[in-house]
Amino acid sequence: MAPRTVLDVDAKSFEGKRVLVRVDFNVSVSNGSVGEDYRIRMTIPTIEYLSKNGAKVILASHLGRPEGRDPDYTLAPVAKRLQEITGRAGIKVRFASDCFGPAFETEIAQMGKGDILLLENLRFHPEEEANDEEFCKKLASQADIYVNDAFSTSHRKHASTYGAARLFDTRLAGFNLKKEVEYLSMMRENPPKPFKVVVGGVKIKDKIGALENLLPKADKVIIGGAAAYTFLMAKGVKTGKSLIDHERLPWAEKALAKYADKIMLPTDHVAAQSPADTSIMMVKEIPEGMAGFDIGSETIERFSAEVSGTNGSGMIFWNGPMGMFEVRAFANGTINIAKSMALAYWRGTKTLVGGGDTLEAMKKAGVAENEVSHVSTGGGASLRYLAGDEMPGVSVLQTK
Ligand code: 3PG
Repeated sequence: MAPRTVLDVDAKSFEGKRVLVRVDFNVSVSNGSVGEDYRIRMTIPTIEYLSKNGAKVILASHLGRPEGRDPDYTLAPVAKRLQEITGRAGIKVRFASDCFGPAFETEIAQMGKGDILLLENLRFHPEEEANDEEFCKKLASQADIYVNDAFSTSHRKHASTYGAARLFDTRLAGFNLKKEVEYLSMMRENPPKPFKVVVGGVKIKDKIGALENLLPKADKVIIGGAAAYTFLMAKGVKTGKSLIDHERLPWAEKALAKYADKIMLPTDHVAAQSPADTSIMMVKEIPEGMAGFDIGSETIERFSAEVSGTNGSGMIFWNGPMGMFEVRAFANGTINIAKSMALAYWRGTKTLVGGGDTLEAMKKAGVAENEVSHVSTGGGASLRYLAGDEMPGVSVLQTK
């Protein structure tokens, strides 16, 4: 059942109310300023909707994985960025240097209707991740209504995503969480055909659950990146010293036997002795002492044709780069897949991209955010959802 959203209650019910919104402002910050701010921008519709309807909007998020109150993980730079964005719409942003106590009370007392208050990093309190009962009660007692617009952190059973949320009578989804759940559910339950999946990156372990669910439904599963070497080894192809997940070799063997007609693997590679090695080679099999760092040109052609040649129908999901794209010499595979995804989108195919690395790769390829049907901000969360795992931050919301 779909979660109840902020649109499913009378807009007037937000007037003058304190609304606690769980957002995911886990963004990159360096030297006190925010780098990529996609995760901030995408929550703007929910924040501004609540603000325009007269709510006092209290935003709660984590940033990184700090051990206690570490100033390197403060959300103060995010408050600044948020003020730059919402200031243009005439909305004032305040920042509370703690999520409770005097720091919170002073700020909330000065808030007018429509103002925003960003709370300091929730993870400065270990009780947040422990989903501590007292912490949940304190957090919940500070607001009247709960909204979750942080799909990317909804796989965590933390105080702000679950324990505190449970204590509110009104528990709603924000616009972004709603869209994310709609797209991922469509893909999980009933994807438009042909349905293709492109998987890359390093860790097979995080993707097995999603692959197990998607393989029976998909028409093609394209595997690149380091994940491909485990499959190639399972097929008896020489992989040199490429990264192999030995524990998952038997699983890869079984998947290959069962879905031989669906799984596409690289047939050539860009190999080198190390990422810093400049004498790279294009090879069909990887020699001893070398490792594969990107898919080769023949593979780029095959994969790109499969991704972009969709005649405007169906759906494609992409998670994980095709190689070590941070190094220019090993970025071609990923850049070409990003461009093929954009082409598929323009031809009318529904395209979904997930995972921080994959977003980075799209940028590198010069592909704009509006050249994808939906960008899923939660790499880990979307894979868990696709694997059919429980999402405490979604299941705690009211349904309609
Ligand atoms: C993410 O970046 O995937 C989310 O913000 C969750 O972060 P976490 O893995 O530290 O819980």
